[in-house]
Amino acid sequence: MARLPTVDLRIYPDDGDSYGHVNQAAFLRLFERARWEVLARGPGTDVFARSGAWPAIRRAAVEYYAPAFPGDLLSFDLSLTHLGRTSMSMHQLVRRSADGALVAAGHFVAVCIDARGRPVPVPDEVKEFFGIRPATPEDSVRQLVVRGGIATFESQGDGAAVLFVHGFPLDRTMWRAQVVGLAGWGRVAPDLRGFGLSDPPPGPWTIADHADDLAVFLDELRIEQAVVCGLSMGGYVVLELARRHGSKIRGLVLANTRAEADSPDAKRARDGTIEAVRARGSAALTESMLPKLLAPSTVATRPEVVGHLRSMIAETRPEGATAALAAMRDRFDASELLSEIRVPALVVVGAEDAIIPPQTQIDLARRIPGARLEVVPGAGHLTPLEQPEAFNRLLADFLESVR
Ligand code: MLT
Repeated sequence: MARLPTVDLRIYPDDGDSYGHVNQAAFLRLFERARWEVLARGPGTDVFARSGAWPAIRRAAVEYYAPAFPGDLLSFDLSLTHLGRTSMSMHQLVRRSADGALVAAGHFVAVCIDARGRPVPVPDEVKEFFGIRPATPEDSVRQLVVRGGIATFESQGDGAAVLFVHGFPLDRTMWRAQVVGLAGWGRVAPDLRGFGLSDPPPGPWTIADHADDLAVFLDELRIEQAVVCGLSMGGYVVLELARRHGSKIRGLVLANTRAEADSPDAKRARDGTIEAVRARGSAALTESMLPKLLAPSTVATRPEVVGHLRSMIAETRPEGATAALAAMRDRFDASELLSEIRVPALVVVGAEDAIIPPQTQIDLARRIPGARLEVVPGAGHLTPLEQPEAFNRLLADFLESVR
């Protein structure tokens, strides 16, 4: 979906209640004003009149996060979360322009009706405006409020959904080759809480919180079931999603990951890393992790991958990294769950993974009934980034079998 224009609206005294806040009725009006303004900058405010289909709001829900006052300038972002034949679901976020603070979020479902009140198709011009192909990867980046925090994600393509869950200390952009390159599926890659452009809520949090976030995120996008693909920490989250929200999973792809919990030594090492990040920020992660994440051949021949990895690590916020390190340290052992997995599964192993031994990953595959196992040569811990073509081929084959 294309990124739609952000609309700035000034708050006037008549938007306030007797306490001087913008009251909830005013918010409904402001959300509506912002939606019309977006249309004014696209197909025009007369687009519905021209096509004989008027949008009637069937559902409106507003969540309030911070007060706004007359004189404030507010920024409204709009994204389409679902486009049906006659209906559109929209999500709006309002921030205070001065400091970017989240003020409110709105969810609206509109049904197009004709002059006699009968549902009619969403006009083509409106569909085109909302649905044009993204010109750049940045254009496909969108935001939603999930369990009180802003979740940033990118999505491309239509059809059955594949959800990509990144590893540590990375972000959604590690899946760019899959989001861009995998045709025929709706590809969705979120930044987990505390990573990339998603908010770090006050910690601590758990791997189960990440899994619950994803369940709500899928609901918000009206995705009932997805093939879920997680790398390393993303694999821990995906296994937790399978345990807690199994009905949402249509197939599982586990890359460079394991099911076991941290050993006592690994827990102590996590505590050391948490201290190092508190003292020196993300530089501590670059020093300790960068040398181990990639296969030597990737480091020697793919400077762009090394650069991308370095920038993902450098941009990881210390509070996100420390909360996730603690969440990984305290995660449950998912080994018992493996024999109960009843959906198709693919396990992808980096032949030169220096963080999770390949044999551990091979054992993981053997414990999931019917799982496919693929060992990718020339890949370290980040197979989808290091060997994108091989990974995409394996994934596309697997997805065909799930379809
Ligand atoms: C990751 O790549 O997500 C991490 O290496 C996982 C971990 O530290 O256990």
